[in-house]
Amino acid sequence: MPSSPPSAPRVVLGVGGGIAAYKACELLRRFTESGHDVTPVPTEAALEFVGAPTWAALSGKPVATDVWTRVHEVPHVRIGQTADLVVVAPATANLLAKAAHGLADDLLTNTLLTARCPVVMVPAMHTEMWEHPATVANVATLRARGVIVVEPAEGRLTGKDTGKGRLPDPSEIFEVAVEVLGRAAVGAAPTDLAGRHVLVSAGGTREYLDPVRFLGNRSSGRQGYALARAAVARGAEVTLVAANVELPDPAGVTVVRVETTAELHRAVVSAAAAADAVVMAAAPADFRPVAFSDDKIKKNPDGSAAPIELAQNADILAEISHERARPGSVVVGFAAETGDATGSVLELGRAKLARKGCDLLVVNDVSGGAVFGSTENEAVILGADGSAVEVPRAAKGVLAHAIWDQVAQRF
Ligand code: CTP
Repeated sequence: MPSSPPSAPRVVLGVGGGIAAYKACELLRRFTESGHDVTPVPTEAALEFVGAPTWAALSGKPVATDVWTRVHEVPHVRIGQTADLVVVAPATANLLAKAAHGLADDLLTNTLLTARCPVVMVPAMHTEMWEHPATVANVATLRARGVIVVEPAEGRLTGKDTGKGRLPDPSEIFEVAVEVLGRAAVGAAPTDLAGRHVLVSAGGTREYLDPVRFLGNRSSGRQGYALARAAVARGAEVTLVAANVELPDPAGVTVVRVETTAELHRAVVSAAAAADAVVMAAAPADFRPVAFSDDKIKKNPDGSAAPIELAQNADILAEISHERARPGSVVVGFAAETGDATGSVLELGRAKLARKGCDLLVVNDVSGGAVFGSTENEAVILGADGSAVEVPRAAKGVLAHAIWDQVAQRF
């Protein structure tokens, strides 16, 4: 039976009556194995899918769905009041409706009314129910009250249909929960990006020479993915344009997959029109081969050189900075610099910030290639207003939040 220290963060895991309730078992395990004190609060309908013994055994806690069990402990008030975080996964259309209207007819809905900590709701339902005007209005009400409602994923639903409405991967829901808990622990405003639509690009583009070969770069996409996750945890609607990234889709994020710089360009320009902020964390290739060979290129029999002629790609960051499809939007670029005879890393960063016309430039010193593929990063965030914020070496999520702090200040 799991037991956690008294200082362990207290998480209430609300479970609604949807088929995805089985995935909440995995989420519960993630919480307990990482030292959280979890109280599962399933609804009566959730127990139709996964029985009380499973929740009790995985959490080491007694399980009730009503307010009358162990009533001397006043559970309908105590559980919510003492929580550091409430996560409801899956949140059914019925639960969203009850929460939006303040109904309290079981232990979970009572808990939602007494909780003063951050609340994350992760809906899962059929596309028709998710798109119904009643659900849309309930979600808007909850978001306006500061609840983080994570957008469902697209894919296979119960039965044969596919569409939007899947519960995101439990490990990615866990990542959002940890982000929210981390911000609450330092007293940060939980949903300062609520109502904002942000666009992040990530990964490295590929410029194909022939069907099997390409020119590429070492960008892993981790920093962009960390930015997307951090933005979801701060309440934003997030679009992530990912170039050749082999990481799982972050929960609540619309992921657009691209390969080449031309595709990245199209995807970013099209999504930028609706974005309050654009963060170009991707590494687009500056050049592409002038010619693409439909057949695999053969070696020269005489061993002679085979030069590749390159054409320059569009500078996406400069274009969106100068054109600002959405007036007042905040544009952020990255600069991987090594410093040279013409200037230090920061001097080159300042010059690039001015050249590109963005509001913020995140400058990395990449001498030695240390950043690529790493889970950590360090940088200086330069502002067009002359500001400079140093972010010491830490997990890429720390830099992500420092960047959103700067963006939020400029909204
Ligand atoms: N970038 C872009 N489009 C390109 C190349 C880069 O939008 N074709 C963006 C990157 O996403 C990053 C920023 O520009 O946010 C800086 O990229 P970098 O390669 O350092 O800039 P360059 O313009 O290539 O600068 P340099 O003159 O040093 O090559």
